[in-house]
Amino acid sequence: METEVKLSDLLDIVSLAKATCIDREHSLKIKEKGFGNYVTEVDMNVQRFIEGKLKELAPGIQFMGEEKNNDDIDFTKPVWILDPVDGTSNLIHDLQNSVISLALYSGRELVMGVVCHLFADETFYAEKGKGAFLNGQPIHVSAVDDFSRSLVSIGTSPYFKEMAKENFSIFQTIFENCEDIRRIGSAALDLAYVATGRLEAYLEKRLNPWDFAAGVLLVQEAGGCVTDYSGGPLDVTQTADIFAGNGIIDRKIRKELLHWE
Ligand code: IPD
Ligand code: CA
Ligand code: CA
Repeated sequence: METEVKLSDLLDIVSLAKATCIDREHSLKIKEKGFGNYVTEVDMNVQRFIEGKLKELAPGIQFMGEEKNNDDIDFTKPVWILDPVDGTSNLIHDLQNSVISLALYSGRELVMGVVCHLFADETFYAEKGKGAFLNGQPIHVSAVDDFSRSLVSIGTSPYFKEMAKENFSIFQTIFENCEDIRRIGSAALDLAYVATGRLEAYLEKRLNPWDFAAGVLLVQEAGGCVTDYSGGPLDVTQTADIFAGNGIIDRKIRKELLHWE
């Protein structure tokens, strides 16, 4: 069933959602889901719009979205995985670093992924075995193998402040040894930037499938590597600790700086 879906259909749906649902007025209509964890009317509108379009495109494929209950998803069957806005805090603060992240998981693997920047003309996409692209141009992870030339993006697990001490001690070690660190505020964009070679590595604990599904495929298809924190394989259907990189610097950080391998 999923083979009938074309990547170009996903690109059309996501770009239509960007054109119709993104405006400042709705970004400022906000509800608090938990401490520091907000949802805006833009998140809700993008999810509703994309879910409707995907149902028309492929009625048999299940739909997982951040702003709904996903308890009934059966990962042995095909499923869309959507984060309608990844980078909601950025959206609220008008920091202009937010994306739509949409993936298709089928046959127990990621088969398509799209990350569409909401404030730049940049759409990153990948299809299993066919490479990764930015606006039609092939992309590849960076070839940098030297810590002193590595830019590493950190995710602060903002909804789990109790993890701050553990997280920031890891970040300090990385910061002291690498060129610099970045905090972009969108996991999907972090992964897209690793895939494009703009960042050498990115790490964040306790992400959900909608945060990373599309980005993981981008990095893998761009020649990079995504694992859990210990370097082991990632289960993309579960909450996970994500360590992504060009396959050199991520490994060296775990082995030589953090001594985890
Ligand atoms: C969040 C962003 C952020 C990351 C959080 C995510 P949201 O997603 O990706 O960069 O640090 O862990 O939950 O809430 O903006 O969709
Ligand atoms: Ca997210
Ligand atoms: Ca979100």
